[in-house]
Amino acid sequence: MHSETAPTSRSLAIVSGGSRGLGLETARGLAAAGFDLALIAKDAQRLESARQSLLSEFAATQTGLTITTHPVDLEDQVATRKTATEISTTLATPKVLVLAHGVMSEKMSKTLRTTDVEWNRVININLNSVFILVNALAPAMADARDGRVVIYSACLGRMSGPGSAGGLAPYRISKAGVNSLVRNLAHETGLGARGFYVDAVCPNHTRTDMGGPDAPRSVEEGAETAIWLATGDIAQRGSENTTGVLWEDRKVVPW
Ligand SMILES: NC(=O)c1ccc[n+]([C@@H]2O[C@H](COP(=O)([O-])OP(=O)(O)OC[C@H]3O[C@@H](n4cnc5c(N)ncnc54)[C@H](OP(=O)(O)O)[C@@H]3O)[C@@H](O)[C@H]2O)c1
Repeated sequence: MHSETAPTSRSLAIVSGGSRGLGLETARGLAAAGFDLALIAKDAQRLESARQSLLSEFAATQTGLTITTHPVDLEDQVATRKTATEISTTLATPKVLVLAHGVMSEKMSKTLRTTDVEWNRVININLNSVFILVNALAPAMADARDGRVVIYSACLGRMSGPGSAGGLAPYRISKAGVNSLVRNLAHETGLGARGFYVDAVCPNHTRTDMGGPDAPRSVEEGAETAIWLATGDIAQRGSENTTGVLWEDRKVVPW
């Protein structure tokens, strides 16, 4: 773990997948909104270069910005639990937890064709680590009655429309699990009545390492709704279902 030492009164946002792509762009938006950051990803060097580039980008505008990095392979449940516990015992209670890590499954990963290894890889990274990170880091947020959890899901995880219409089985099913976790947890925590909000977001097809260079959306467009959910005024969310749902372009979409 690399950490700054200066004490800070700024609020903390934890961002997994913060080394690149949508996670890094979300971290950038949170830094611009005045948050300190704890970035989680697998590759320590990429995390450090994300940290350095954010520190230099915000040197003039965010005095005292503190960024810690926490490299861990989120496929490994024991290591994930250890890192999450380390974060929860050494850093301040976060106001924001954004989970933006993830992997796509292999192209031909149909249910009848995929392997145990591929199934477990994708479910461990995309779903089991989401449970562990939320289970370890969000209780303090719920107790503080002041927390926003935003989890990058995918429209490929929807039960309606083309969401789970076959193919990429481990990926689609992991994201359906994320959608279900979000709804279930929101009900368990009073649907926002206790100051704790938990939502899923579909960024749409975005130009990242996962989305590829020909995707229609920029990272700024893909990350906009997650940043809004993490920082925006709750009143802007509309009158019904203000949490525990799947969002796309600031609108609730059916699972
Ligand atoms: N891009 C799209 O079109 C799109 C569409 C729908 C949904 N999504 C979802 O949006 C989220 C972000 O996607 P993205 O496009 O930004 O992906 P990306 O550019 O491929 O970045 C993936 C991120 O996840 C981290 N990660 C992957 N495997 C990991 C592991 N085993 N342990 C720790 N960290 C790991 C990577 O860390 P390292 O740098 O250390 O590898 C990286 O920070 C994902 O949940 C994805 O499913 C994306």
